[in-house]
This record gives sequence, structure tokens and C-alpha cells, in this order.
Amino acid sequence: MSNYHIKQFEEYFQVYRKSVRNPEQFWEEIAEEHFVWRKKWDNVLSWDFKKPEVKWFEGAKLNITENCLDRHLPTRGDKTAILFEPNNPNEDAEHITYKQLYARVCKFANVLKEKGIQKGDRVCIYLPMIPELAISILACARIGAVHSVVFAGFSATALSSRINDCDAKMVITSDGSYRGPKTIDLKGIVDEALNDIPGIQSVLVAKRINSNINMKAGRDYWLDPLLEEAYSDCNAELMDAEDPLFILYTSGSTGKPKGMVHSSAGYMVYTAYTFKNVFQYRDNDVYWCTADIGWITGHSYIVYGPLANGATTVMFEGVPSYPDFGRFWDIVEKHKVTQFYTAPTAIRALAKQGTEHVEKYDLSSLKVLGTVGEPINEEAWHWYDENIGKKKSPIVDTWWQTETGGIMITPIPFSTPTKPTYATLPFIGIQPALMDESGNEINGNQVEGRLCIKFPWPSIARTIWGNHQRYKDTYFSAYDNMYFTGDGALRDEVGYYRITGRVDDVIIVSGHNLGTAPIEDAINEHPAVAESAIVGFPHDVKGNALYGYVTLKDSGEGRNHDNLRKEINQLITDRIGPIAKLDKIQFTVGLPKTRSGKIMRRILRKIACNETDQLGDTSTLLNPEVVDDIIKNVV
Ligand code: WTA
Repeated sequence: MSNYHIKQFEEYFQVYRKSVRNPEQFWEEIAEEHFVWRKKWDNVLSWDFKKPEVKWFEGAKLNITENCLDRHLPTRGDKTAILFEPNNPNEDAEHITYKQLYARVCKFANVLKEKGIQKGDRVCIYLPMIPELAISILACARIGAVHSVVFAGFSATALSSRINDCDAKMVITSDGSYRGPKTIDLKGIVDEALNDIPGIQSVLVAKRINSNINMKAGRDYWLDPLLEEAYSDCNAELMDAEDPLFILYTSGSTGKPKGMVHSSAGYMVYTAYTFKNVFQYRDNDVYWCTADIGWITGHSYIVYGPLANGATTVMFEGVPSYPDFGRFWDIVEKHKVTQFYTAPTAIRALAKQGTEHVEKYDLSSLKVLGTVGEPINEEAWHWYDENIGKKKSPIVDTWWQTETGGIMITPIPFSTPTKPTYATLPFIGIQPALMDESGNEINGNQVEGRLCIKFPWPSIARTIWGNHQRYKDTYFSAYDNMYFTGDGALRDEVGYYRITGRVDDVIIVSGHNLGTAPIEDAINEHPAVAESAIVGFPHDVKGNALYGYVTLKDSGEGRNHDNLRKEINQLITDRIGPIAKLDKIQFTVGLPKTRSGKIMRRILRKIACNETDQLGDTSTLLNPEVVDDIIKNVV
């Protein structure tokens, strides 16, 4: 019996049991029956979490684009692969069929080759949500180049550090981008980023907003004329199963961002299989994930997972509030969207607008609703269920990470009974564990601990680009023989999981992971700042917002605090991007520290969350007097 499409709860349990009893046999069957390979593997799995090293389908040869494009041509050539909905609702949507997508990817791949890109080279993609973004990703994969997409909301400094970290040869961008009523000068940001990187050989520029931009001779090329001249066929490069497919940066609690490296075969198998089941995709469905492709959700569940299943995937360029807060529902009605996948922060922002925008539209096409990126609060869950799903469409609360490549804990719609705020049960093949702080597994139900995974799954990231030691230290050192997620979770009386949030210094703001260290580094660059500490506090739309405690040099005598606040947020915008701006900044006489000089963030967090009655033991502090002062002057 094929286990590719799970349709009942009973079946979920059967398949789950099979997948953990004999993972090799299970994944071998899935891989064998549902994908095209140029050569089969010699070995399904080898792994050692101590090194750490994980290899799936070793010895196999494939190209992921043959699975996402070529194989669909005979049966679905004229089906829409990508349905592009522009920022401006008056601009026509674009239906790109599998045949057209194939040709556009091949042309793009030929342009990359002509510009000297070879298998294994890194290509940095800094594009808005336009078709060229998906096409350039697939074009890289076609020729075996490793794509590194950088979210187009990151600043020039953030972009340049990512280009440098992976030593990219080329940057792909556009003249600019639309964001609601605004335009953004993307090419200007790229130019600034490249000031420090003379080594970049070429910059390909897609035309989107027809702005007047600087084109540096011998380095910058308009994409359109190059594509026009390129052949619309391009042989797919033969890739080893474990060859890197892409790098995607994610924030860590310390230091620079981590370039998570994903493999070719395992990533393909797992994202395709999860897509099929978590969204219960059927052939005529129109699936829409509102994420940006600059994040892992877009990689796995706008591009690779859907296309590997021959799905129609919607790509939306705009924002939920433009031209008004009904835009998402307008798109659902217009394209008869069947699966809708978004983030809790978007749900909260839309819920805040009431139901008036929702009621104008016919949402009856919807079958499955999804959420991802942060814990969803009960109120948002019910609002989504009642107003969008009309209590008929199951909500899949999907927990996973950039590092996991694909969805890990989730209901299977129409099978798993849902429960508000619970991601429910592990997906097929996933073996979670809850650990206590002394490193013991917590068994049984109605318990809470740190979430780990005991056994490898096909799409686990293989390393951090250029820093395997950091990969080991971050994910495999906290607990023996386990992958540590950095999240806390509880397991209820029937074994359902609820993710409670990060247990490290990563703060999730509007679904974006932000490490505290890089933000503090940016603040500390200000000449008036002595030191700073960032913590999160609850926010009704963003989930968390950022609270900065800043100590000034010379106690800030004669300084205008409002101006300083603006300057600090400008520095953060320049170094990271507007997503990392602080909501509150408090100037302090000092920061509470332990005797060894470590900042006691726990205390700062309590103060920011207005829980000063729960500060706990402050007797170990070197400078308890600053705590009183901070509480007195809270903003
Ligand atoms: C959080 C996004 C609660 C979690 C795919 C995780 C969630 C981090 C959920 C990864 C969820 C993601 N419920 N928390 N359904 N989904 N998270 O790398 O803290 O951008 O570790 O990947 O988001 O964020 P990332």
C-alpha cells in the first residue's frame, strides 16, 4: 500500500508506527515511488548525532528541478504552476504554466551559465516576491549552483555580511520593489552592500518598478535582454543526494547569522511528502502560502514542496493591508484558494480590523487553513476558525524551523482532531522528546520541557555553512544524541504538543526570528552608548515586541532622549533592517549583572513584561540597586 497520501487518523497512526519502527524502509518506499531519480541510492541513511553527520539516500543522483518541472510536463504542462498576484490589485494576475515555468527556468539557468556560474558556486538572491524569485531559485538548482536567498527587507549591511559569509559570486536583484503604496530601492541597497565586496562578478537586475538606477558597467546586467537570447532548454545538472541545494540564514542567539545548509534529496522528499499531507493537496486545488520566499516557509512551501507535487502555488507580491485590510480575502475569492497558510501575526493584525473586511468576500473555496512561525494564541485561533474557516476548515498549526527544512509537528487535516494553540502530533517519521534541564528525558503526558528530536528526518539541515563546529555546539551539544530545537513545549494528557516559545535569546517578532546579540551590537555602535540589553515583551499583534535597556556613557548628561531613540532605531535599521526596530527604549543607569559580569536578562524580561512582583532571587546580583532604578523609570 502506498503511504504517500494519508487520509484518516487511524492511517496516520499506522504509518507513523511504521515510520519509526523502520525509518529506512519507510523513507525508501516513499522516495522510490514518488520521485524521479537518475540513479538510486546505495544506502538509505547513515547518521551520527555526535559528529554530527546525517546522510540520506547516499549515492543517489537526481536534480530537484526534474522533480518539480520536467516530470509534470507530459501530464500537467498546461496547468498553472505559479499564480502570481501583483501588489497592485488592478494589475493582472499572471498564470505561469508548468511548460512556461520550465522554459523560464531553463532560460535563466542558461544565463547563469553564460555569466560563469558553475555547479557548487553560491548565488545570492535579493528579490521581492515576483516570479523571478522562484525562477532564479529553480535556475540555480537546475545547474547545481547553491542559492542563498536573502529576505529583501534586510539592510545593506545584513546583505553584505550574508554575501561575504558564503562567498557568493553573483547577486540577483531587481531595480526596486513594491510594498503596498510604497516603492523600495532594492538596487540601491545592493550597490551599498557591494561597496565592501569588490569580488562580486556580476549582478543580474530584473525590471519591476522601472526606476532610474545606477548600472555599473561590466558588473550589472539587465535580466530581460539576457533571457530573451537564452535557449529555453537546459540540461539538469546531475546532483549527488547530499550535494547542498541552498543556504538560508537564520538568527542565532549570539554572533553572526547561521547559514543553514540543506541537501538535495532528503530535503526534496520531506518537503514534498509533508506538503501533500499537511495541506491534503488535490490536483485542482489552488494553494496559497503568504510567507515571503526569503524565509524557509517560502522555500519549502511556496516553491519546492508544492512544485514537487505538481501543485498550483500562489505567489503574492503585496501586503495584507493594501489597498485595504480585505486584500487577503479578495485574493482567496478571486483565485478560489483552497489551502491558505499564514502566520499568527498576520491573523492578529487582520482580526484587529474586525470582520467587516472578511464579510465582503466569498471564502467558500477554502478547505484547509494553516499557521506557522510562532505560537498562535487562543483568541487568534478562534477568530481564524470562525471567520475565515467558518468552522469547517481544519487549522493546521505547523511547528518547524529553518533548520528542520520541513513541518515537524502538525495535525493532518480531516484526520487529527485539532485543539486551539496545539501543534498536536509529530508528523510521520518525527520522534520528539521533552528534556529536563539536567539532560533527562521526561516521559509520560502532562509534562513540560525542552523540545528535542531523537532521530534524523530527511530534511534536517546538514551543517552551518563554513562552521560545522557551531552547528554541533548549537544543536547537538545540549543533550546527548539529540537535536535540540531551542524551543520549549508541553505535552498534554493525550500526547498533543504545544510549543511554548524559545528558551534561548532568540525573540520572534511578527514571526521573524531575531537574535538579541546582533541588535545589541548595532546599538552599541552609537557613540553615546555604553552598553545595552534587549528582551522581548508581549505585543497584541506582533506576538513579541522588543524592549531595549540602554546605558549611556557619562550618564547621558544633556542628551535629548527622543533624538537618541530615533538614532538608535536608525542604526538598527541600517545594520539589520526595520523588522528589528525597538518598540521601547529605556535609558538606564546600569544593567543588572551577576558577579561574573553576565547581564541578568531574566530580570530585565520580567520588568519589560510588567511582572516586577516575580523578579525572583536578586541576591546574587552585583548591583541590585540598578534594578530599583530601572523599575522606577520603566517606559
Ligand atoms: C517558532 C519557521 C509555535 C519556533 C518555519 C521555532 C513556532 C521558530 C511554530 C523557527 C508554531 C515556528 N508554533 N512556534 N506552529 N512554528 N515556531 O526558523 O520558536 O523562521 O523554533 O522557521 O519559530 O522559526 P524559523
